[in-house]
Order: sequence, then structure tokens, then C-alpha cells
Amino acid sequence: MKRRFIGVVAMAAAGTLALGACSGGGRTEATTDAGTDGGTAAAGFAADAVIGVALPWLGTQNWKEADEMFKAQLADAGFEPLVQAADNKVPQQQQQIESMIERGAAVIVVGPVDGTQLGSVLEKAADAGIAVIGYDRLIENTEAVDAVVQFGSIRTGELQGQSLLDGLAERKGEGPYNIELFGGGPADPNAPNFFTGAMSVLQPKIDDGTLVVVSGQTQFTQVATPDWDNAKAQTRMDSLLSGFYSDKEIDGVLSPNDGIARAILTSAEQAGQDVPVVDGLDAENESIVSIWAGKQWSTVAKPTDLLVGKTVELIKALQMGEALPAPDDTADNGKKQVDIYQLDPVVVTKANAQEVFANDPGRLALLK
Ligand code: BGC
Repeated sequence: MKRRFIGVVAMAAAGTLALGACSGGGRTEATTDAGTDGGTAAAGFAADAVIGVALPWLGTQNWKEADEMFKAQLADAGFEPLVQAADNKVPQQQQQIESMIERGAAVIVVGPVDGTQLGSVLEKAADAGIAVIGYDRLIENTEAVDAVVQFGSIRTGELQGQSLLDGLAERKGEGPYNIELFGGGPADPNAPNFFTGAMSVLQPKIDDGTLVVVSGQTQFTQVATPDWDNAKAQTRMDSLLSGFYSDKEIDGVLSPNDGIARAILTSAEQAGQDVPVVDGLDAENESIVSIWAGKQWSTVAKPTDLLVGKTVELIKALQMGEALPAPDDTADNGKKQVDIYQLDPVVVTKANAQEVFANDPGRLALLK
């Protein structure tokens, strides 16, 4: 990721996105002054247009929430939501996007199964004048993406790595500490970023001997969890424990999300280990309960309602033919610098859970 000066460039980028949305199905011509750059006119689309949302799967709580919240928030805004999930299968997601194009969607929001595999179908969408917004995950190797809305993925990883270190200091006394590392699904562009962010914090501590990765497995390719599958993570943890820890304690484990964190904890418990320090991601209900019970050490909250809300805000601006707000960042997707609208993730431990979930009655209710 590269920070950049946003003024003029952002206006130009926003203009491109607004214009990109001007020729799809079900549009009305709404001409508005796009702002301060001399009055670029951008057309909007029908206030009740179909908005497609293509989610990768419903296998973790955040995606189930996105499914429900997109349906509700898009309908509240007057649009016709067309929300589908792809069961982690690329061809299924390509087909779903095809059908959204055929239905005349004005905007298609995509959380890609595989960041690199949607180029041709999204180019077809772009050719039809449909705006494409990446949701939660970057869309890679194509020009046909207008913006991405996400929580900072490198930042998320940094928080996970730092939280693991903090938990080790708090729960396991003086180091050195025996740890293992887990990554997420390699097709998901977030997964290597989470790992890179975490390793920026952990690697110096590995180098100075504070942390010992007993298995020696420190490369993303060695530690990734295919398809974010909790069962595969648990199998890997089982073999790490039987192969390297029969006569050693494991003190901590880097986990890329909550489902994998719980799989790691189950495996450690079954191997008769004391509870290792394990971080997570998503603030899933089951993990909040585990944190409150003193098992999982932490999670990182990235509230789905805020991310969906931000996406719907961009869609409303496009509908009105307005320029989009300035992006917070850009990311190189292999073909272009993509505008990123970025929200900040937050670490949650038992100590701050009540404060973090003060406005989330569902999660707050789990803290008892
Ligand atoms: C999301 C995480 C989620 C993971 C697996 C990632 O792209 O950012 O919130 O846990 O996918 O579904």
C-alpha cells in the first residue's frame, strides 16, 4: 500500500467512478456538478436500481452479517438488493456476477473468493457501464474495479502480532516463548497482508530470540490455511503439537481469524497443553464467549455494519451522480492503483470488551 496526496488525484478518480456508472441498466439521467474541478458532469442511475452483492461464502460470522446487512441497508436506501454468496468457489462467483450483469445491476459489490480470478467477468461489467466496488478484500489484476471498502489489512495484522506479544507478556511471564504461526486462505488477498502486518511486529522478536517458532515454519506458504478452513487448521495444529511439542509447552499461536483461533485452542486442549495465548479476528460470538471465559486471548473487531454502511454511502453518491469522497489510501492491484476507503480495526481483550461493544447489544449480552 502506498499513501499519497489525495486532493486532485482523488477528484479525478472519483470522477472516473461516477462516469463509469453512467450507462448500465435501469438508469435515469441525473446530471450534477461533480465539484471543484471545473464542473465535470456525472450521470447517476435509477433510485430503485438493482445493486448486486457477490460475497465469497458464508463460512464466518462477518460474511453472514454482510449478507443480512446488505439486504437490509440497500432496501432501506430504496435499492433492489441482489445478494449472493459463492461457497468459496470461483466459477460459482463468476456465474453469480454474470447474472447480476444480466439483471441490469447499476453497481456490483464484490468480496472475491480469489482476488485474481474475476478479471474477465468484471471487465464485462465495466463494459456495460456498471461500477464495481470491492468489499472487505482487494480485487486484483484488473482495471475493472473502481474502489475498495475495507478495514486496513496490514494494520489488522500488526494488531494481531502486537496482541500476541502483549498476551504472552501478561499470561506467560518472562520469555523466551514457544510459538507457532497460522495464516488465512492463500486465494484471499487479505491473508498475506494480515501475515505481513503481523510479521512486521513478530520478526524482530524472533530475530532477538524472544520468540521461538519451534517448527521453523515462518513463511506464509508454509502456514497458510487453504480456504480458511478451520478443520484444516486444526489438523495442522495437531501435527505441529505431536511433531514438535511432545516434550514442550506451546505458549502462543498467531491466528488469522476467530474460527482458526478456536480450532487451535481445541487442538491444544486435546493435546493436554495449557491454554496458549491466541489472537483472532472478526469478534465472532463464540470467540467473545471464549475471551470472556479467559481462553482465547484476543480478537480484532472490524464491525460489519460500518463496512456495509460505508459501501452503501458510496453507492448512494453514485446514484446521485455525485463525486465520491476522497479515498483514504490506494493499493496496487497489479494493474492499477485502486482507491481504498479504509476503516480502523480494534483489538478486543477481556479488559476492554465492554467498552468496545458498548453500542453492540448482541455482543454486549455475551459478556456475562
Ligand atoms: C475477512 C475476515 C474473514 C476471512 C474468512 C477475510 O477476507 O477479512 O474477516 O474471517 O476472510 O472468511
